[in-house]
Amino acid sequence: MSSPKRAYVETYGCQMNISDGELMEGILEKAGYEIATSPEAADVILVNTCAIRDHAEQRVLGRVGQLKGLKDEKPDLLLGVTGCMAQRMGETLLERAPYVDLVMGPDGYRTLPAKLGALDRGEAPTRPPVSGKKRGPQLTVLNLDMGENYEGLEQRRTSDVAAWVPIQRGCDHRCTYCIVPYVRGDEKNRKPTEILSEIASIAGSGVTEVTLLGQTVNSYRYDGWDFPDLLRAVARVPGIRRVRYTSPHPNDFTEKLVEVMATEPAVCEQLHLPVQAGNNRTLKRMLRRYTVESFLEKIEMVRAAIPDISISTDVIVAFPGETEEEFEDTLDLMREVRFDDAFTYKYSPREGTPATRMPQEWFIPDEIGSERLQKLIEVSRGIQSEINAGEVGRTEELLIEKPGKHPGFVLGRTRRAKAVVVPGGPELIGSYRWAELTRTTGATFVGELVEVPVGTEVA
Ligand code: 5AD
Ligand code: SF4
Repeated sequence: MSSPKRAYVETYGCQMNISDGELMEGILEKAGYEIATSPEAADVILVNTCAIRDHAEQRVLGRVGQLKGLKDEKPDLLLGVTGCMAQRMGETLLERAPYVDLVMGPDGYRTLPAKLGALDRGEAPTRPPVSGKKRGPQLTVLNLDMGENYEGLEQRRTSDVAAWVPIQRGCDHRCTYCIVPYVRGDEKNRKPTEILSEIASIAGSGVTEVTLLGQTVNSYRYDGWDFPDLLRAVARVPGIRRVRYTSPHPNDFTEKLVEVMATEPAVCEQLHLPVQAGNNRTLKRMLRRYTVESFLEKIEMVRAAIPDISISTDVIVAFPGETEEEFEDTLDLMREVRFDDAFTYKYSPREGTPATRMPQEWFIPDEIGSERLQKLIEVSRGIQSEINAGEVGRTEELLIEKPGKHPGFVLGRTRRAKAVVVPGGPELIGSYRWAELTRTTGATFVGELVEVPVGTEVA
């Protein structure tokens, strides 16, 4: 019998994509592949890509070019590009990188073993030469398939500590800057029974923290279930001690959801709520469908119910038409809300999205975009450092996640999603410990392990 083929999956981008990478590994393992730990050791390399900003795509194109070197050494090696950029570029990618054998979008993963098998047997069309060079058989799988519900597919989970569980794929919004709906299609929600039995089995394997994933995770609906119903049920799965979710849309952030967050002990005191901009005209051009005022009301509502909640956000600067004043409004919003963390981006035009069709004179020169981004980072980091400095001295529960950068230290996370480095060895990973936060570097903390405070023991 010949030895099994080895596959290597290299993932870029968001948590949904990382989760998809695990899904591809699960599908391939089930089909008899071994999962390789380096591209050099593999017979199949899949680069699982992101399309959210141009920068992400350029990085991947560079990486795919590098991997071509391995193909030159090993002619039978199959090189595939999967994920959002694969879906976005399709055939164009096969012309830009003619040595790529397979281009597959997110709804195609179920067919991976079959398509790789076909390529192995040479059962694929040959496209015209590029720059005079002949091409081998190449396949594309680019259907956006509303019927693909991802049922029965199992992720290969590698963390014993925390698990990411997609409950929804695609997006029904059409924010004018965003490529996601075009590469991942319309919103599709998974059955609650499937999600809950998956989480029960995750808990059975000893994992105690889950993060529910979806593009607009809180718009989840299935039969009579809405997102708060699902969140409550997940929080009550025996063995699950921490539940998080990302990313919610402000419009579906309801009182009912806040109530579940406030009353279910397993739901963490943490929220990532993308605001994108702090000016109503900008929000309108972005088609976010809420106002600064209504966003602030949501923040107030959640803080009233969970005063200590830590809140993070996403912000885009230099969106077409953003004036200096509109940008200043975003800075004001940052100062008003005082987010614990902010992921900040310079607008990147994505071909095919509505924003790219806005009047040319609205587009902001790159240098101004960079300046605004710099300013925004300064403001948000300043606020973050102040908040974190105020938290030094607290004693908090940590779930120890991984080794620290320095030997003899490990990294844990508080329920409020703050990273804390504490002394300890790898045997602590996966366990809950209490720590006093003794110092902050601005974004993260250093702590000392302490005894479990009386009254907080978990049976
Ligand atoms: N340019 C810059 N940032 C973007 N994002 C989404 N699309 C773009 C784009 N075209 C940001 C949004 C989103 C996060 C995941 O990426 O802030 O919330
Ligand atoms: Fe993109 Fe808007 Fe959908 Fe988020 S809600 S994935 S930003 S279109």
